[in-house]
Amino acid sequence: MMDRTNFLLFMSCSMIHLFISCLASNILNIATDQSALIVFKSQFEHDRSNVLARNWSSDTPICSWIGVTCSLRHQRVAAINVSNMDLSGIISPELGNLSFLVSLDMSGNKLHGDLPKELAKLKRLKFIGFSFNRFSGKIPSFFEAMPNLQQLQFHRRLNVLSLAGNKFTGAIPVSIFNVSTLEILEFSYNSLSGDLPANMCRNLPSLARFAVYSNQLYGQIPSTIGECSQLRTLALEFNQFNGPVPKQIGNLSMLVYLYLGGNDFKGILLNFFLFSI
Ligand SMILES: *[C@@H]1O[C@H](CO)[C@@H](O)[C@H](O)[C@H]1NC(C)=O
Ligand SMILES: *[C@@H]1O[C@H](CO)[C@@H](O)[C@H](O)[C@H]1NC(C)=O
Ligand SMILES: *[C@@H]1O[C@H](CO)[C@@H](O)[C@H](O)[C@H]1NC(C)=O
Ligand SMILES: *[C@@H]1O[C@H](CO)[C@@H](O)[C@H](O)[C@H]1NC(C)=O
Ligand SMILES: *[C@@H]1O[C@H](CO)[C@@H](O)[C@H](O)[C@H]1NC(C)=O
Repeated sequence: MMDRTNFLLFMSCSMIHLFISCLASNILNIATDQSALIVFKSQFEHDRSNVLARNWSSDTPICSWIGVTCSLRHQRVAAINVSNMDLSGIISPELGNLSFLVSLDMSGNKLHGDLPKELAKLKRLKFIGFSFNRFSGKIPSFFEAMPNLQQLQFHRRLNVLSLAGNKFTGAIPVSIFNVSTLEILEFSYNSLSGDLPANMCRNLPSLARFAVYSNQLYGQIPSTIGECSQLRTLALEFNQFNGPVPKQIGNLSMLVYLYLGGNDFKGILLNFFLFSI
């Protein structure tokens, strides 16, 4: 039982606690978003026509900047779309402070370097578009299982991960195949190696497009591919995949595009014949 003094103490502690957590939750705000984007701007060598360099002026509200969309409700940056703006330079870790970011499209530029691990802090992201840049290194470890639970929230929303046309090396991190909200996985035109995990489709109920062509991936197509029941496009061409083409591909009733050429599959014609009748 709580007596009156304890109760008051409890209440004031709660208030203090509330106050402190309010403070804590306000540390990241629109001003943080602005400074993150100003740092980002300072890291890119300016686009040829200087459009962003001129437009992203600290004298004007960040929400009026070209390519920046804010959430009215939260008064925070919700989307960045700087695709095809001829940007070069690197992505700064400060971008990880844009904690209300839902969509990040930087495709079709000349950005280079590693993707910073701080991007893991963007728990609301649904769309990641880094295609056709000059990024290198391993596909970010931010998809690796992390000990803290917050990491799992990041996994809960991502629909599109598009890293095609870069210089990524190493294997596709297996944890990506656990991001059960994924609909599009695009890794084509990189230098990825390694094989596909045997249970790659166990946790991808919504995957509609899996494109990894023009890499150096090898090994067999896992027979669990039949569990990616929403798959419409399976593009594996120009790799070093081998072995038989699993007949479970014939169970993919939504499949429209199947590209397997330029690999070392065995008995491919026979398999096609069997599951196409
Ligand atoms: C940036 O571009 C937006 C949209 O075109 C425009 O409304 C705004 O005035 C521009 N700001 C500056 C500083 O040029
Ligand atoms: C970004 O802008 C381009 C050009 O307007 C558009 O084609 C693309 O769909 C946009 N990206 C996102 C994620 O909305
Ligand atoms: C933003 O991110 C950077 C680098 O990740 C960090 O050093 C900085 O403290 C952050 N800023 C705020 C206001 O949280
Ligand atoms: C994928 O999720 C399962 C449980 O849902 C877990 O046991 C497994 O360790 C996860 N794998 C990776 C690579 O994160
Ligand atoms: C493929 O479909 C057949 C019948 O249509 C079914 O018997 C079989 O279990 C399915 N295989 C997989 C891997 O889903």
